[in-house]
Amino acid sequence: MKKIGILTSGGDSPGMNACIRAVVRTSVHYGLEVYGIRYGYNGMINDDFVKLENHSVSNIIQRGGTILKTARSQEFMEYEGRKKAYENLKKHGLDGLIVIGGNGTFTGADIFIKEFDFPIMGTPGTIDNDLYGTDMTIGFDTALNTVMEAVDKIRDTADSHNRLFFIEVMGRDAGFIALRSGIATGAEDILIPETPTYIEELIETLEKGYRKNKQSGIIIVAEGDELGGAIEVAKKVKEKLPNYDTRVTILGHIQRGGSPSSFDRILASTVGYAAVKALIAGRRGEMVGVINREIAYTPFHKAIKYNKGINLDLLDMARILSS
Ligand code: F6P
Repeated sequence: MKKIGILTSGGDSPGMNACIRAVVRTSVHYGLEVYGIRYGYNGMINDDFVKLENHSVSNIIQRGGTILKTARSQEFMEYEGRKKAYENLKKHGLDGLIVIGGNGTFTGADIFIKEFDFPIMGTPGTIDNDLYGTDMTIGFDTALNTVMEAVDKIRDTADSHNRLFFIEVMGRDAGFIALRSGIATGAEDILIPETPTYIEELIETLEKGYRKNKQSGIIIVAEGDELGGAIEVAKKVKEKLPNYDTRVTILGHIQRGGSPSSFDRILASTVGYAAVKALIAGRRGEMVGVINREIAYTPFHKAIKYNKGINLDLLDMARILSS
C-alpha cells in the first residue's frame, strides 16, 4: 500500500478533524502518501482530491466540523456514480481508503468494496452514537456536553417563570443523545424513538411532580420520538393540562458543532491511528471502534445493522432519580 485517501461523509461531528489529523500523520509516519477527498463521496465522483501533508493538518485537533467538508451523496447511491468514483481513485493511483462517518457512509463503503474489490476501513463519526461495534462514536460526547449546557441554561429560566419546557434533541432513529442528556440534566422525563410514548403516563408524571410542589420542568424529546418531536408532544400535553405554561426549544444543529471534548479528540486520534495500521496490515471492510478501552474491528454490515441497544434500565433510573 503506497497511497491512501481519506474522506468525511454524512452529518459532521466534532472530532472528525482530530481523526483526519491522526490518519494523515500516521500514514506519513509509515511512508504512505495521503489524499484528502473533499465533500465525501461526491468528491470521489467529481475528482476533488487534495494532497495532504503533516502541516496540512496543523492546528485542527481542536476545531469542530471537518476541513475536508462533507455531504450526503445521492450520486454514490447509483452504480454509475460509484463507477466514476472508482475510476478517479485509480487515476490518482490510490490503493486504500479511510472513511469517517456513520450508517450511510458505511453502507456506501460496503457496496463499493463488493463491486470494485477496493480496500476501505472506517471510523465512527456521528453525534448519534448509533453504531454497533464501538462504545462511543466520535462527536457523541461533545454533543452531549453541548446539550447539557443548553438545558442547564433553559432550566434557569424555566425555574424563574414556573414553566414546563419541551426540549428537542437530535436523533432521528436513536435516543442516545436524549437519554444521556436527560440523565445529566435531571430531566423530568425523556422520550426516545426506541420506546412507545404514552401521553397519559407523561401527564401522570407531570401531575405527580406538581403535587409535590415542582413548579417547572424539563422534558427531553428525541426528534425521532413516535409522537413526532417536541412541538407535537407539547401540543398534546397542553390539550390535557391547559393551565401549564409550556415552551418548546429545538436545539437543532448547535449539537453538531463546537470544539471537540478531550474524550472525542482522544477517541478520534486512537481510531484514526488504528485504521491506518489496519489498512497496512491488509484489513478491509471494517469499522474501527473502541469497546471497553480496546480497539475493536467490526464489519461494516454489522456496524450498521446490529442494534447496539439502548440501555432501558437507564431510562427507569432517570425517571426514579427525577421523581
Ligand atoms: O446523523 C446525524 C444527525 O445530526 C441526526 O441526529 C439528525 O437527524 C440528522 O443528522 C440531521 O441531518 P441534516 O444535517 O442533514 O439535516
